[in-house]
Amino acid sequence: MPEIGLYEAMGTLRAVRRLRPDPVPDDVLRRVLEAASWAPSGGNVQPWRVVVVRDAEKKARLGELYAARWHAYSAQHMAQLEGAPDALRERTQRMLAAGDHLADHFAETPVVLVFAFNPKIMAITDAKLGRISVVGGASIYPAVQNALLACRAEGLGCVLTTLLCECEAEVRALLAIPEPWGTAAAVPIGYPRLRGHGPISRRPVAKLAFADAWGEAWE
Ligand SMILES: Cc1cc2nc3c(=O)[nH]c(=O)nc-3n(C[C@H](O)[C@H](O)[C@H](O)COP(=O)(O)O)c2cc1C
Repeated sequence: MPEIGLYEAMGTLRAVRRLRPDPVPDDVLRRVLEAASWAPSGGNVQPWRVVVVRDAEKKARLGELYAARWHAYSAQHMAQLEGAPDALRERTQRMLAAGDHLADHFAETPVVLVFAFNPKIMAITDAKLGRISVVGGASIYPAVQNALLACRAEGLGCVLTTLLCECEAEVRALLAIPEPWGTAAAVPIGYPRLRGHGPISRRPVAKLAFADAWGEAWE
């Protein structure tokens, strides 16, 4: 596996939803999990854990739960695009087709990483602001992103998914995740069926970054 530079890895880390069932070797999986463990967290508490799901029956149940949610999401998403420009509809249709593939083959994915978090030990500095709180996630998702980047470096396809969080109670029961841990993401990983990672489409920096004050052009 040729080494990949960090910038190239970040710039090509697209969602890969068509995965081969071939197993992921333990040493590869270990490097991915170790990369996750290097992520920062508030107070270095690391209020996350990951359940590495390889058991066929458990993956099959996760797949049933996931597919039900995916197909509902996908139908709603397409309905919202009624009358949208053709290029956007076509792009979305391609994404949804890949999503259908993942949903229908979830059980065949060799590994699903289910990330859990403990809200009781997280530093949540925006909890009392009267709006949706996001800071807690900053102690969890950097670990998920590190795992995704490590997958990219290992030639593994992967995608961050959150639809299973809608049925947290069933997932917790299935994986014996104790109170008060919640679920933050499920990441199916496996070797890609097609090209795998590649070019991504994102807003330009000029639209995302400001100089000193909101709205001031960065460059
Ligand atoms: C918070 C979050 C939740 C997501 N949930 C799902 C999901 O449940 N299922 C899925 O197929 N993709 C999911 N994605 C992947 C996004 O759809 C994907 O990153 C985005 O469309 C950009 O696609 P690209 O990385 O291929 O360019 C999620 C991504 C994020 C960051």
